[in-house]
Amino acid sequence: MGELLLVLDEGTTSTRAMLFAPSGECLGSRAAELTQSYPGPGLVEHDAAQIWQRTLACARAMVDKAGGADRIAAIGITNQRETIVFWDKITGEPLAPAIVWQDRRSAALCRQWREAGEEPGVQARTGLLLDPYFSGTKIAWAMANWPQLAEAGDRLAIGTIESWLVWKLTAGEDRGGLHITDATNASRTLLMGLGSGGWSDGLLDMFSAPRSALPEIVDCAGRFGTTRLFGGEIPICGLAGDQQAATVGQACFAKGDTKATYGTGAFVLTNAGTVPPSSKHRLLATVLWQLGGRRTYAIEGSVFVAGSLIQWLRDSVGLIDTAPETEALARSVPDNGGVYLVPALSGLGAPWWEPDARAALSGLSFASTRAHIVRAALEAMAHQSHDLETAFAADGADWARLRVDGGMVTNDWMAQDLADMLALPVDRPDFAETTALGAAMLAGVGCGLFGGLGEAAAMRGPGTTFEPKLSAGARQTRLAGWTQAVQNIVTPAK
Ligand code: G3P
Repeated sequence: MGELLLVLDEGTTSTRAMLFAPSGECLGSRAAELTQSYPGPGLVEHDAAQIWQRTLACARAMVDKAGGADRIAAIGITNQRETIVFWDKITGEPLAPAIVWQDRRSAALCRQWREAGEEPGVQARTGLLLDPYFSGTKIAWAMANWPQLAEAGDRLAIGTIESWLVWKLTAGEDRGGLHITDATNASRTLLMGLGSGGWSDGLLDMFSAPRSALPEIVDCAGRFGTTRLFGGEIPICGLAGDQQAATVGQACFAKGDTKATYGTGAFVLTNAGTVPPSSKHRLLATVLWQLGGRRTYAIEGSVFVAGSLIQWLRDSVGLIDTAPETEALARSVPDNGGVYLVPALSGLGAPWWEPDARAALSGLSFASTRAHIVRAALEAMAHQSHDLETAFAADGADWARLRVDGGMVTNDWMAQDLADMLALPVDRPDFAETTALGAAMLAGVGCGLFGGLGEAAAMRGPGTTFEPKLSAGARQTRLAGWTQAVQNIVTPAK
């Protein structure tokens, strides 16, 4: 048996295959962009067939790099969560566009359920809130609006992205694939009981999700199935949503350990131990991992817009040419000059949960420059993180330090700004691909290369710590300006 680990990291904007040695050394990587379809305001779709084709091409490149399938011990898959795929079990082809996690089409349905007083019961059962973010609301919308789904009857399969990829990897010419989902992805659907780890009949009814169309919920590590698409057999041994995988990759193994990933969105997860937590401050309770049928949980704060703000400033507004130039621009001015940017480009997530809120740029004067606006965009990351820090603390989950990763924190200025605004040490690993590393660790545990997550943590490398330096007064001024800017766009009652 080979000893290399092949990770398929299917994110929102790109899909990537990466090859790891058991030491943690990354031996190669191949990425492909994914087409983002915006068929109307608040609508975001992906083509599941494209996701599969591009993931397969990237994986093939890494199997070649490894020297063949027999050099690979296991595949680990990690994915953008909540995005939901509908396909035909007989043809293996998508029946509709994939509805992406950022999509807001189920906002009206969520409002109706909330007004009917459904949210407290749903939160108690699932740990989640009634927001268009979660897959169940997207399924309810799709079942009501896309007749081909009901017409497919027993042929209909529904799954999140890892479920879709496992199906395609394991399907043969004469048979369908394996229909499974791991507990972390299942815990984002609004269909799974957080404490039971199984689909809940009441929730399936509420969100019109046919049980026969849903996958079996499995652990995050184990021998789930085998793919024969690469000229030999490779077992699939690791599965986790990308934020949970990053939390594993950051070795947040003790209760209270916290990581924040600044990717397309920003997602903060605190290890909450083995008893399902419940938030009183509009945070989420979610599965962090499931191993041997036992679940460890996390409290999560989900911020919808992070790196996508910089992308938007570059591609739609034309304020910058490249993302890296934001660092020099932010450093070129002594402060934000009173400018604040609340990046509610697809509503506000935690702790506000305002799907209809829209972004605001405030405090502009003739003295404001491009640098101030860019600085305000970067500062928004620390401000949003501070709002989460406050909500986590109110829920009894104080952060002692924060482990950060994701494309945005390669920006040293931003990493320091996080330390300053959170008034905490911020730890950044030198190897930024923590999500992929976490999936490799899980795959390594699943195939028996490692005895457990503790042993797999040897794959991690060194990092840098940013200590807080900003004066208390300057910090308070910033936070007061931000609070005012947010209050201007959220519902007054909040
Ligand atoms: O919940 C959505 C999240 O999984 C998306 O992650 O990496 O695309 O920001 P990312």
